[in-house]
Amino acid sequence: FGESAEAAVAVAKEIASLIRYKTNRNEHCVLGLATGSSPIKVYQELVRLHKEEGLSFKNVISFNLDEYYGLGKEDVQSYVYFMHHHLFDHVDILPENINIPDGTIPYDKISNYCAYYEERIESFGGLDFQLLGIGRTGHIGFNEPGSKESSTTRLITLDYLTRQDNAFAFDQFDEVPKKAITMGVGTILKAKRIVIMAWGLKKAEIVFKTVEGEMSTDIPATFLQLHEDVTFVMDDLAAADLT
Ligand code: F6R
Repeated sequence: FGESAEAAVAVAKEIASLIRYKTNRNEHCVLGLATGSSPIKVYQELVRLHKEEGLSFKNVISFNLDEYYGLGKEDVQSYVYFMHHHLFDHVDILPENINIPDGTIPYDKISNYCAYYEERIESFGGLDFQLLGIGRTGHIGFNEPGSKESSTTRLITLDYLTRQDNAFAFDQFDEVPKKAITMGVGTILKAKRIVIMAWGLKKAEIVFKTVEGEMSTDIPATFLQLHEDVTFVMDDLAAADLT
């Protein structure tokens, strides 16, 4: 795509078609959702489709990829806040169908909680569709370098570069959380369909390594090469280094 705005509309259109298809069959539509700058225009278009074209989210079950550890819904930097602000507050999704890793879970309950998150995804028959961005470290979700192909939902330590890239949302760099709860690479790979997005020149290098490089835990996004139904959607700038 030449421009990200045009690409985002195409991605929203695919999600809307899936929601409508599932609604017509009286089935849940299980969406894996991302935060960050990449999906914002997709959510804007989904909100427009809801308001202007009657797209209903009543049959949607959502699972977000990740959440900062230590942040809760009252924190404006939290992903629960982000999702309500950009999407959930503007559509008719049922509150009980929204799932976002709980960043306020006590430390000693994290592993049980993460197992529960995995089981809950499975209980709805798995993710029908997973939307992803990509970090400059090669992370998907917050699966930083070193994350294995089989990894599941867990507490991780954020890379320094990731904290730098996300620091704009905080008053000071020190306030950027050092840890997060994220779905694993294995959780993501189980989704039936995956769309990953990248916009702008600063993503060009990692896009190249992800698409044309060897599969490796050094760049967890390369494990997407294993998936049989994944599309990498990018603008011309993010595609600049591809051969
Ligand atoms: C967000 C997430 C991350 C981001 C990635 C890119 O839920 O899981 O993997 O998708 O850090 O962030 P942006 O889109 O802000 O460049």
